[in-house]
Amino acid sequence: MAVGHEKKGSEIYEKNRSVEYEKKILKPKNVWEEFFADKRSGGHRSSAEEFLAMEAREKLFHLDGGKTLLDFGCGAGELLVYYAPEYEKTIGVDFSPSMLEEASKKIKERNCENTTLILADDKTVWDKLDSSFDRINAAGVLQYLTYQEIDDFIFNASKYINKDGKIVLFDMLDPRLYPLWKIGLFSQDKSCRKILSKVVCGVKNSISSSLKKRPRDILGYSHYPNKIKKIANKNGFEMICVQSMYYEYKYHAIIFRS
Ligand SMILES: C[S@@+](CC[C@H](N)C(=O)[O-])C[C@H]1O[C@@H](n2cnc3c(N)ncnc32)[C@H](O)[C@@H]1O
Repeated sequence: MAVGHEKKGSEIYEKNRSVEYEKKILKPKNVWEEFFADKRSGGHRSSAEEFLAMEAREKLFHLDGGKTLLDFGCGAGELLVYYAPEYEKTIGVDFSPSMLEEASKKIKERNCENTTLILADDKTVWDKLDSSFDRINAAGVLQYLTYQEIDDFIFNASKYINKDGKIVLFDMLDPRLYPLWKIGLFSQDKSCRKILSKVVCGVKNSISSSLKKRPRDILGYSHYPNKIKKIANKNGFEMICVQSMYYEYKYHAIIFRS
């Protein structure tokens, strides 16, 4: 389904939503789609507008221009509303109706008339696009995909990215740092006792979640930068990896054609 960008984001979204929703309730959801189905915020370290503005500035620096942007996994639009004024056209995609509802409110409030929202996932989004982009980004999203799904995502994205375009995967979880952060090793007031208690709690939670068939870690899966680089190379791209400015255990994968 092609989506024309001359219509306002909220209009398009409302129209497509009921059809999409009907389709969705007929098919079983994956664990993450279920998890995000009623969420209304992207789980940033702080939801204060000053913090989101700083995060967005960091991301805009790495996006480094372009005129058109696809924000995959845009969530509640907390960053999208900062990207929109910097681009001629922005499209936000997410598989969570509640997240898109919030995003829709925000883009209306901020008069982001150049922004369209699409309810879709990493597999269905491509058929719903009617143009390619200078930038495709996903912030805190690809951690909900497996390596194979990331490979498919980059392969599909490669067909929708303009020459000299970039695919930027923000805030990937680093498997070398994330476990250390989780047990509080980067915390200002760490102590052996606190670390030990976090380890025990972590193991308990992990067992309880697997027994209840819930995700073991709500932040998703961590991915090694070198494996993501191999995937990028396999799909004909170069990749550089930079440390996230606001999250000690996350990195950004900046993917481009050489
Ligand atoms: C942690 S939130 C981040 C939201 C937003 N990028 C931000 O930084 O504020 C992750 C978002 O990705 C969406 N998401 C996760 N996996 C997805 C998938 N396979 N297809 C579409 N959306 C997905 C979730 O619904 C959620 O809104």
